[in-house]
Amino acid sequence: MAETLHIKDTRTGRTYDLPVRNGVVRAADLRKIRAGDGDAGLLTYDPALGNTAAVRSRITFIDGDRGVLRHRGYPIEQLAEQSSFLETAFLLLHGELPTASELEAWTRDLHAHRLPPERLDRLFDGFSPDAHPMGVMISAWGALSTYYPDARNIFDEASRRQQILRILAQAPVLAAAASRVRRGLGPARPPDDLGFVGGFLAMLFGDEGSPYRPDPVLERALDVLFVLHADHEQNCSAFAMRAVGSSHADPFSACAAATAALFGPLHGGANEAVLKMLTEIGDVGHVPAFIERVKGGDTRLMGFGHRVYKSYDPRAAIIKRTADAVFGVTGKNPLLEIAMELERIALQDDYFISRRLYPNVDFYSGLIYQAMGFTSEMFPVLFGVARTSGWLAQWDEMLRDPDTRIVRPRQVYEGPAARDYVPLDRR
Ligand code: SDX
Repeated sequence: MAETLHIKDTRTGRTYDLPVRNGVVRAADLRKIRAGDGDAGLLTYDPALGNTAAVRSRITFIDGDRGVLRHRGYPIEQLAEQSSFLETAFLLLHGELPTASELEAWTRDLHAHRLPPERLDRLFDGFSPDAHPMGVMISAWGALSTYYPDARNIFDEASRRQQILRILAQAPVLAAAASRVRRGLGPARPPDDLGFVGGFLAMLFGDEGSPYRPDPVLERALDVLFVLHADHEQNCSAFAMRAVGSSHADPFSACAAATAALFGPLHGGANEAVLKMLTEIGDVGHVPAFIERVKGGDTRLMGFGHRVYKSYDPRAAIIKRTADAVFGVTGKNPLLEIAMELERIALQDDYFISRRLYPNVDFYSGLIYQAMGFTSEMFPVLFGVARTSGWLAQWDEMLRDPDTRIVRPRQVYEGPAARDYVPLDRR
């Protein structure tokens, strides 16, 4: 027997049976419930879409109560331990882990698309040395869209694949250029003989002319961090990618929008905000007073809490383990002690327990990035380089979904009723 939601509308006395599939009712089915003639039918009011499935997806599964995160069915713990960022990006985009030959071709194709147009270098001259690199990234994605007009052929599979390769491969080049702006340096090009992460580190930390060899422990740690940040179902920036993509804008422009969404301190900007918070706390002895300020509503414990995870973010646990490997090379980040004391106290305090607030992916990641030599402004940029793979997978899936139409939510109108214009001399 089909599952239904039996509704009685006491305004009219009428009853309705709405189909329920996989625990979901279609919002459009509510429109048949009308209070009378002229009524357009019921709407749902869900301001942050916190209880609304706006899309169907096969990419990422999260169980927030159990702290489960899987990409195409594979647990994040196994991907972080055994996979690489490029392999995970392939999985997100193609739905299956690549064979050895597929991974080799994927890596070769990305390598072939990794160089942005030469003229783009001039864009970076226009930024002041204190330009936030996320603002540079937002601009760079828009600028790149002007070099690839073929990216607007979004229903041509071959074109879509080429844009995906360009965006994924050039993200680290733009990110490195955004970082180099702050040191008065022009863009760099990834060396031929290093991989995706190694080449990125070379553009960031290498000196012109002298050969750069990344520390293998740090290179692997950044690869793991990229795996952990690759996708996270319908987060704010992924939905921005889908919303802009739904108007049939090109994927570079959609990446500019997604990057702008990620910049916010409630989203990808949180890792930068965590470092600022830890630095301001300054000493383990100041932690109790800071916790009291949070509980008083004076400030937020950045890096804590999540819309979906109501238990420990599985990525935070993995990052904490990765930190040990990095600090073994770089020396322990002195702010780690403050972070661990914050976590220890918060996990015992009813304010956080009752609100189910736990460390999220951003709580420890900044400590590792800082120890690796990144400035805090670069933390959301690193997040964005990795999340580009998830944005592209979500974008590609959206374009294949027959349910996809341009995103255009409704509203609850609470403004004034109709009224006549008042001429200026009578106001
Ligand atoms: C990411 O969506 C994703 O998947 C995101 C992400 C991804 O991979 O894409 O996981 C990456 O963005 C992680 C989140 C990074 N942001 C932060 O760490 C910023 C700090 N955290 C929050 O501001 C907050 O927890 C959010 C934004 C993450 C979630 O906010 P919600 O779900 O809208 O929760 P809320 O703001 O409604 O808070 C519910 C209650 C409130 O208290 P009351 O009004 O009930 O008294 O919890 C409190 C909030 O004040 N609260 C916090 C808090 N987060 C929520 N109180 C103190 N510190 C916090 N961090």
